[in-house]
Amino acid sequence: MIGQLNHVAIAVPDLEIATKFYKNTLGANVSDALELPDHGVKTVFVKLQNTKIELLEPIDSSSPISKFLHEHPNGGIHHICYQVEDIKSAISKLVKEGARVLGTGKPDIGAHGKPVIFLHPKDCLGTLVELEEA
Ligand code: CO
Repeated sequence: MIGQLNHVAIAVPDLEIATKFYKNTLGANVSDALELPDHGVKTVFVKLQNTKIELLEPIDSSSPISKFLHEHPNGGIHHICYQVEDIKSAISKLVKEGARVLGTGKPDIGAHGKPVIFLHPKDCLGTLVELEEA
């Protein structure tokens, strides 16, 4: 059912420092910073040959990323995102198998303008998993 790894999202306390690390130290191709108020984050996309890394900095204290950074002050992997061809059929299969879809249970429009859902980490080996229709 799942296809390519679309991205790995890393929560960071300081987006500028994180971007410099990826750009200058790791020599990666990075995007400009983009504010996504609906998601409560400012993000930079690191474009790799086969996938992307999303650096996420919270823009306010109500952001879920803020809560995560409270528990992981140095930052850390927040979620991984797999592509699926048909998100609705993915949801019905997952729900049938007992996985919990976070939020309304229906796809939202994600950071890339495509339908996404998040699955409960307790149902996914302790990892927050995002599925994106792509
Ligand atoms: Co994501």
